[in-house]
Amino acid sequence: MLTSIQSSHTSPAAFHHPLNLRGNIQPVLGLLRGRNHARSKAFNSHASDEPACEDPYRHGNCHLIELKRVVKIYDTPAGKFHALRGVNLRVDTHEFVAVIGKSGSGKSTLINMITGIDRPTSGEVFVGDTAVHKLSEGQMAVWRGKHVGVIFQFFQLLPTLTLVENVMLPMDFCNTYAPRERYERAMQLLAHVDMANHAHKLPSAVSGGQQQRVAIARALANDPPIIVADEPTGNLDSKTANQVFDLFTQLVEEGKTILMVTHDQDLARRVTRAVLVADGEIKDEIC
Ligand SMILES: Nc1ncnc2c1ncn2[C@@H]1O[C@H](COP(=O)(O)OP(=O)(O)OP(=O)(O)O)[C@@H](O)[C@H]1O
Ligand SMILES: [Mg+2]
Repeated sequence: MLTSIQSSHTSPAAFHHPLNLRGNIQPVLGLLRGRNHARSKAFNSHASDEPACEDPYRHGNCHLIELKRVVKIYDTPAGKFHALRGVNLRVDTHEFVAVIGKSGSGKSTLINMITGIDRPTSGEVFVGDTAVHKLSEGQMAVWRGKHVGVIFQFFQLLPTLTLVENVMLPMDFCNTYAPRERYERAMQLLAHVDMANHAHKLPSAVSGGQQQRVAIARALANDPPIIVADEPTGNLDSKTANQVFDLFTQLVEEGKTILMVTHDQDLARRVTRAVLVADGEIKDEIC
């Protein structure tokens, strides 16, 4: 269904959680390993290990997302804190990647590097044909609005706008689509997440799961190739979380690439790849 509302402009292609995953993550990794260990990638491989790309579309390689030696150091009253310690990560088109790990391990910091919400202290972040770490603040906002749909645990819909107005907002901000098309597209996106009947309500008038579905519609507004979600089901009951996850699965089938931070082991088992973050490093990566 979404393909009917996709446009041709797309380029080719923290929340503090109480659940401490230490000791709980192994069953997920074990299951994923058992499912397809042979496809597991050596995580810290370098460019020389990579096969030549048949269809490079940027920077001489074919990864949709690539983080190279990304370090993030926060200055705190207690001194420097290393939140990311030289992370390398590659994500290819149409992957559905779960980012897992205990609270405080660096998951949000990692995905904030990809969305440009935060910047690396050192290292490089490439998304599509863009060196994200080199963008100015102004360039960053417009780039993100067009290329990455961001979804948060607490939805973050603007409370004074109706649901359809919330979905129109990224199109207005990035000036994508003709103004007369934006309302109709927003309504189509709301229909895609089964929320068209509520389009003219305020966010406070619908449930959390419904708000998250609207946030997903908003993330799709500019037809970005990538969706990045930070604990999108963390505030939902398990049935609603499953519905949101099913929607993500559908989006991947329709061509999107998704990175999702999750503490939900059941959901983490159902993605194509899980990346385990611990103490600011990627400790394991299971396909
Ligand atoms: N702005 C900041 N200033 C200082 N330290 C920070 C800042 N943001 C994050 N940190 C620290 O960096 C580490 C990683 O934080 P991050 O939010 O990435 O963890 P997380 O894995 O997403 O945790 P959670 O599962 O609780 O959301 C934590 O120890 C956190 O306290
Ligand atoms: Mg977080």
